[in-house]
Amino acid sequence: MIKLNIRLICKRCISSASFPRLNGIDLIKERIADKVSKFCDIEPNEITKSIDLTNNLDKGDLIIPLPKILKDKKCDLKATAKEWCENIKRDDYISNVTASGPFIQFEINPKFLFQELVPNILSLGGNYGSLPLGNDKTALIEFSSPNIAKPFHAGHLRSTIIGGFLSNLYQKFGWNVVRMNYLGDWGKQFGILAVGYQKYGDENKLLKNPINHLFEIYVRINKDIENEKRDFGESELDKRAKKFFRDLEDGQKDAIELWTKFRNLSIEKYTETYKRLNIYYDVYSGESQVAKDAIEKVHLNLINKSLIQDSNGAQIIDLTESEKALGKVVIKKSDGTSLYITRDVAAAIERKETYHFDRMIYVVASQQDLHLKQLFEILRLLDYEWTDSLVHVNFGMVQGMSTRKGTVVFLDNILEEAKNQMLTVMSKSDHKFAQIENPEYVADLIGISAVMIQDMQGKRINNYSFNWERILSFEGDTGPYLQYAHSRLKSIEDKNSNINITDLSAINFSLIKEPEAITLMRLLSRYPEVLKKCIETHEPSTVVTYLFKVAHQVSTCYRKLWVSGQDEDTAMARLALYAASRQVLHNGMTILGITPVDRM
Ligand code: ARG
Repeated sequence: MIKLNIRLICKRCISSASFPRLNGIDLIKERIADKVSKFCDIEPNEITKSIDLTNNLDKGDLIIPLPKILKDKKCDLKATAKEWCENIKRDDYISNVTASGPFIQFEINPKFLFQELVPNILSLGGNYGSLPLGNDKTALIEFSSPNIAKPFHAGHLRSTIIGGFLSNLYQKFGWNVVRMNYLGDWGKQFGILAVGYQKYGDENKLLKNPINHLFEIYVRINKDIENEKRDFGESELDKRAKKFFRDLEDGQKDAIELWTKFRNLSIEKYTETYKRLNIYYDVYSGESQVAKDAIEKVHLNLINKSLIQDSNGAQIIDLTESEKALGKVVIKKSDGTSLYITRDVAAAIERKETYHFDRMIYVVASQQDLHLKQLFEILRLLDYEWTDSLVHVNFGMVQGMSTRKGTVVFLDNILEEAKNQMLTVMSKSDHKFAQIENPEYVADLIGISAVMIQDMQGKRINNYSFNWERILSFEGDTGPYLQYAHSRLKSIEDKNSNINITDLSAINFSLIKEPEAITLMRLLSRYPEVLKKCIETHEPSTVVTYLFKVAHQVSTCYRKLWVSGQDEDTAMARLALYAASRQVLHNGMTILGITPVDRM
């Protein structure tokens, strides 16, 4: 057995973004660049940058498009590709090189995949896939951001799921991540709520379930206001609500106290629910937290830069000069109160001053595309050069998300429903169900993964319709299927716990020759690259699609590569292969925010 060693052969790190010890693909790219640079006077560094993953493993693992590296040179690219291809040396890292038109395709040597990469994955464990590309930069990620006393709708659910994933991803890539929840916790609705609480409030109910109770009150009092308006043309309650909100804005003690209570209790409850999704926040900010003088400063700045016009007493900014579709934006109402957009402008500036972010991501539904475009444009007009570091990660709508009893209003309801439905599905298989130690807990985790996978499966901009039956199925590409794939691998490890794979140097990987296993390893080698792609596109579906590919390939391997009943060396090598596969599934699921289950 030849001994390859990632640690020894890494003579140099060609570019700062290359991490051969952490990412086998980087190492292979460096080897390819070294070889290719012998045929042309191009820096290996430059060549490395041009090497891409193939779209399809049928085309090899990596590809160099000659038009990219020889763009200034006048030569017959096809002939050059053919000539280089014949002369490039095959070795323990690259087993095959083929020319396809002006492209050169490379295949990674299975020897490297097994002898180097399997041990590499197993020793990196939970860190396989992490690359220190962020260099300690700071990303502020704002996500979920529900409105107190209003429903937690599907848009908030998607923001929560996608934002949770992005936070994990950035962290894995060496960024400092500030997770922020920007609550809708300000505005006239709090006046309405306070008046409603005086009429219908119940301290016990509030303490027990603040989110539901406040919503109940909000709905009831709004009806009362509507009725008053219908019957009397105006509403006494509404006037009182307006007065309460004015008191709030003026910082009146009692008003602030009541509002603080609503806010704090709601946050407490949210925190509990987010925990079920493995999500926590560094900051619970919110519209209420934007300082009044920060808003005033924005206003003055806009005046100084002559960006504001008067329109029937209201102050507006005309953004049509920047882009017609951006329209005119009201920045201050005629009664002097601020607006959603004004608070957002001031909040962005405050966040920059407080967290010095290098990138700020807003995970908000595409219904607010215009709002965020206007926000970014206003900041640009105010000459904040960091406007370029703002990103809107948007997403489409969810149709038909409801429980059996009716429409879903809160995150809790969705998660409970997922758990209960999952329990029903699981209990149909009596035999297996009896073996699960804590069925409620497992059902909760699988139910949640069903909801999450369906949400992250398609391109985020697409709408999708919610279908309980489909997402809870163990067949097809669903959350439960992914959990099943993980737990099956875990049970192979458990059943064979007598086989020791901790001494990686004692494993004879040359015993694995099956093409199915080679394909599996080629897939596993791509995991860090998959994450790299995601950090560019902010598309969780890239990870989801990849994990299903791995799960399918593992299941293909089961048919041929058994562990039990094999001689010890073969069993050991195969078990290590399965352990590496489980590690990758585990890492991928965890980064998505899913807790992988070991038994189900
Ligand atoms: N609370 C808002 C809503 O539910 C979402 C907040 C989005 N973030 C922001 N900075 N505007 O519509």
